[in-house]
Amino acid sequence: MSQSAELLRGEKIVKYFGGLAAVNGVDIVVRSGEIVGLIGPNGSGKTTLFNCLSRLLPIDSGRIFFKGRDITRARPYQVARMGLSRTFQVIRVYRKMTVLENMLISRQWRGETLLSMLKPSHPETERRARELLDFLKLSHLINEQAGNLSGGQRRLLEIGMALMPDPDLVLLDEATSGVNPTLIEEIKDHIRELNRTQGKAFLLIEHNINFIADLCERVYVLNYGQLLAHGTPHDIMENEAVIEAYFGA
Ligand SMILES: Nc1ncnc2c1ncn2[C@@H]1O[C@H](COP(=O)(O)OP(=O)(O)O)[C@@H](O)[C@H]1O
Ligand SMILES: [Mg+2]
Repeated sequence: MSQSAELLRGEKIVKYFGGLAAVNGVDIVVRSGEIVGLIGPNGSGKTTLFNCLSRLLPIDSGRIFFKGRDITRARPYQVARMGLSRTFQVIRVYRKMTVLENMLISRQWRGETLLSMLKPSHPETERRARELLDFLKLSHLINEQAGNLSGGQRRLLEIGMALMPDPDLVLLDEATSGVNPTLIEEIKDHIRELNRTQGKAFLLIEHNINFIADLCERVYVLNYGQLLAHGTPHDIMENEAVIEAYFGA
C-alpha cells in the first residue's frame, strides 16, 4: 500500500528565544488526509513549533516544506494561500465583530491586504461562511458579537475561521481547552467528519489525551523542545520516557 503524499514536513527545526532552545532539532511530517497529534508537557515547545511551521516565527535552522515546496522563508499569508491554516492557543476572534463578520474577514485575510478586508465580501464567501457556521452548529449566533460567545463557542468559531480558506491542513492549538465536555465531543465529531468527507488533514496540539487517542493514528511527543517519542497513541501511552516526562519528579 502506498503512503499518501506528504503535506507538511519540518526537518531539524531549531528555534531559540535568547539562550533557550524552545524547539531543538524537531523532525515532523503530516501526510495528506492524516490526523496527527502533538503532545508534551507545558513549555515543551508545541506552540513554538506551530509558529515555526505556519511561518509566524523565523527559525534558526532547519527546513520546512509544504506540498513539496520549500517554505522555510515564506510569509504566513503565502503558506495560508497554499492551504495551511491554523488556530491559536489564545483565542483570536474580533470580540466587537459579529460571528459572521469574523468568518468573512478570515477568508479575505488569506493573503489579502488590510484594505481588501474592508471591502464588501463576495456572495460566494458569505455563502461559505454560512455553510460552515451551519456545520459547526453556530448558525443561531451568526449576528452575535463574538465577545458574547462562551469559550467553547469561540473555539468553534476559530475553527470555522481557519476553515474559511478551504485549507488542506489545519493546525489546531489546544482546541479543547476551556471547552465543556459536550462541545469537546462536537469538536471531535467535526474534525472526524472534515477528515472523512473532505480529506482535510489536521495537526492537533492537545492536553486531552482521550481526544488524541480517539482521533489520531500517530502522535509526536515533545519534551524540552526535542522529540521524545513518536508512534500510535497506544504506544505513546505505554512509553516509559513519555510517562516519566509527564509524571516524573
Ligand atoms: N516569545 C517568546 N519569547 C521567549 N520565550 C518564549 C516565547 N514563546 C515561548 N517561549 C518559551 O519557549 C518554551 C516553549 O514554549 P511553548 O512553545 O509555548 O510551549 P508549549 O506550547 O509546549 O506549552 C517555554 O519555555 C516558553 O517560556
Ligand atoms: Mg502552547
